[in-house]
Amino acid sequence: MSDLKKAFSDLKNGEFILIYDSDGRERETDLIIASEFMTAEGVKRQRKDAGGLICTSAPSRMWKKLDLPFMAELLAECYNAHPVLKGLAPNDLIYDTKSSFSLTINHRKTFTGIPDADRALTISEFAKFGKKCDSMNEAEAREEFGKYFRAPGHVHLLNSQPGVLDDRAGHTELCTAMLMMADMFPSATMCEIMGDNGRSMPKEETMKYAEKHGLVFLEGSDIIDAWNKRDKD
Ligand code: 5RP
Ligand code: CA
Ligand code: ZN
Ligand code: ZN
Repeated sequence: MSDLKKAFSDLKNGEFILIYDSDGRERETDLIIASEFMTAEGVKRQRKDAGGLICTSAPSRMWKKLDLPFMAELLAECYNAHPVLKGLAPNDLIYDTKSSFSLTINHRKTFTGIPDADRALTISEFAKFGKKCDSMNEAEAREEFGKYFRAPGHVHLLNSQPGVLDDRAGHTELCTAMLMMADMFPSATMCEIMGDNGRSMPKEETMKYAEKHGLVFLEGSDIIDAWNKRDKD
């Protein structure tokens, strides 16, 4: 079985996969799972084995319907009320033109939101809500969303670009594309793998981690190739 096919089957079985973006970008490997399968054990693994920031992606059809803003745009709307925000504009990203950060949220049934079980609840319920949201109209979806979630919280949401990999090749879109090609609800939860020296763990080492734990390791270019060929198969 090819690595790509094994990755689709692992995602469907609620297993983690590893994705390294590219040498020309962040040069980071994220430990990734489909959000619908997130458990307290899964959050613990991302925290202990990866150690970066735990973030959950939303496909464009979901964040558009819910009107979940990009954080940079939300802050830009507040420049008059809080002039300090203008000076903080993220206009100097070296590795990309745009950040995918949206809001942070907690499920309303969490207490502080940070324990593994709390974050797992927020993440898995976000994916569950995303599926339900597909059959709701905008007004309904927005009202329902607030019944279940509050912001700010302890799970970072990332908005995936509408054209997915045609628009951007961050981990946000690489995971979204993988889940779309696997025919799954496209919300992934990802966390950068850090090294003991405090830097992102180099690719050679994250490949060894993947081998040791029997996880698939993919490069962004493998996913982009599959994405570009997807309609022709
Ligand atoms: C949040 C990040 C990570 O890099 C994550 O992989 C998502 O971002 P991107 O789509 O830019 O790769 O910035 O911790
Ligand atoms: Ca990033
Ligand atoms: Zn990334
Ligand atoms: Zn990163």
